[in-house]
Amino acid sequence: MNKVSIIGAGMTGSTAAHWLAEREFADVALVDVVEGMPQGKALDMLEAMPIIGKDVSIVGSNDYAATKNSDVVIITAGIARKPGMSRDDLLKTNAEIVGNAALEALKHSPDAIFIILTNPLDTMAYLAMKKTGLPRERVIGQAGVLDSARMRAFIAMETSVSVENINCYVLGGHGDEMVPLTRHSNIAGVPLNEYIAADRLHAIVERTRKGGGEVINLLKTGSAFYAPSAALAQMTEAILKDKHLIVPASAYVTGEYGLNDMYFGVPVQLGRGGMERIIEYSLNDDEKAMLQKSAAAVRETHDALKNLVGLG
Ligand code: APR
Repeated sequence: MNKVSIIGAGMTGSTAAHWLAEREFADVALVDVVEGMPQGKALDMLEAMPIIGKDVSIVGSNDYAATKNSDVVIITAGIARKPGMSRDDLLKTNAEIVGNAALEALKHSPDAIFIILTNPLDTMAYLAMKKTGLPRERVIGQAGVLDSARMRAFIAMETSVSVENINCYVLGGHGDEMVPLTRHSNIAGVPLNEYIAADRLHAIVERTRKGGGEVINLLKTGSAFYAPSAALAQMTEAILKDKHLIVPASAYVTGEYGLNDMYFGVPVQLGRGGMERIIEYSLNDDEKAMLQKSAAAVRETHDALKNLVGLG
């Protein structure tokens, strides 16, 4: 059985464990700093397995030794911004948490593929790669699957067509400047703009850009976790099953889309080796301009991180 370790057993981490265990994709280890919590969640989930007839091991721990020999390590550990906290404070705190989590997990699983979820996502993925010194194939950030799924859900609601027929591609940084590529998106092969009136499509694009905030405003005490964790599970499945699945995700670019030395949301192919390749779409001038704007916003956060933690 494959093994997946999830660092950070909060809402997203534990729900990702649930999706993975429920589908019998892998044995799961949950690690968190809070004493008893990962152990309790893991035990509760394990006790559900006889009911759904799945044979997987699920363990919780405060010790990284439990992550030994993982095929995939998912990092969701972090804190949300609290009142009075600046963006830089958050960046510094989460950088410490994610950097330490990646290094500790790597010690016990030298061959693992890392998927990062903690925000600011693109920058945390960059940090994890730089800290561990791993090749770009082995550190991937989750963002595009989630952003694209939100757009797919909104299109399905608008058109009453199955979500399975709806293909959407949202690229760029995981923030308000993300780039929903409407020209490349389609409903069973029919371009979106032939299916949906321009004003409605524009509204859906805007709702997608603000999708995370919409859920936070409703929940009030936390951020989205069902869709983010489902995205983690899909990426993990693609890696474990060597599916060569093409999804939008945050990857380290070395010249693709004219960008260098940063993590950015691009279409990638996922298989057993991790991020196997970046696919380059042909973009028109408008799309290129949107991507550049999004890249500038991500680069700003990368630069802030370098100033705060002195990354090379
Ligand atoms: N090591 C391990 N776990 C940690 C550490 C650490 N050093 N620091 C914090 N954690 C744990 C927390 O104890 C908590 O259980 O990370 C978990 C984060 O879970 P939640 O607060 O429920 O947050 P969640 O909604 O799951 O979001 C996870 O994703 O959206 C991003 O950046 C956002 O930090 C958030 C992350």
